[in-house]
Amino acid sequence: MNKKSPRGIDDTQTLINHTLQRVIQEGDIVVDATAGRGKDTVFLAQCVGQAGKVYAFDIQEEAIRATKDLLQERGLFDRVLLLQKNHSEMGPLIPDQVKAIVFNLGYLPGSNKQIVTRAETTIEAVRQGLDRLTHRGILALTVYRGHEGGLDESQKLTNYLSLLPKKDFSVIQGIYLNQGEQSPFWIMIQKNREDNR
Ligand SMILES: C[S@@+](CC[C@H](N)C(=O)[O-])C[C@H]1O[C@@H](n2cnc3c(N)ncnc32)[C@H](O)[C@@H]1O
Repeated sequence: MNKKSPRGIDDTQTLINHTLQRVIQEGDIVVDATAGRGKDTVFLAQCVGQAGKVYAFDIQEEAIRATKDLLQERGLFDRVLLLQKNHSEMGPLIPDQVKAIVFNLGYLPGSNKQIVTRAETTIEAVRQGLDRLTHRGILALTVYRGHEGGLDESQKLTNYLSLLPKKDFSVIQGIYLNQGEQSPFWIMIQKNREDNR
């Protein structure tokens, strides 16, 4: 019999997506802060179902176009609002109650490596996103450190997140202990605080 081999534990995206699938329900509003080529946007659009909405950001026209094409190909475009904007401006552009926010940091694969997420704008976007998360909502980040500026971004981001009050947020990091300081890692933040929005 041709048995499919199981996925290993070293697949960061699968780990994050399992959690998101548990948290996101049909009809929810979620955000993709770095649309790229649209893989995460498609996943989120499937999670929220027909009644839900995904707000997807990217600063690059190429990324917005690629994401739009992929969504149309999968018949999911009507669930997504694509915004060619810096995610550090997401605050006023997204609703108050968002169930999940996803960041896949770094540069667009196969494109200009100079157009990359940066500490200052990433932290500002995370700050605004956390403010809009629902109680028990999740903000998930995949962080890459191998490219120029990646290590700096990862350190400033983890410094910022380490200081979030634990009564308001649970911050969990998944990191390879045996793959060096340039290996990617994930962070998930759950909002514990109930806002009176
Ligand atoms: C690693 S890629 C994202 C991959 C994507 N999630 C996917 O599934 O294909 C990172 C993306 O972040 C975008 N980006 C970089 N800085 C940004 C910013 N300040 N605001 C919004 N998007 C940004 C880049 O243009 C790039 O497309």
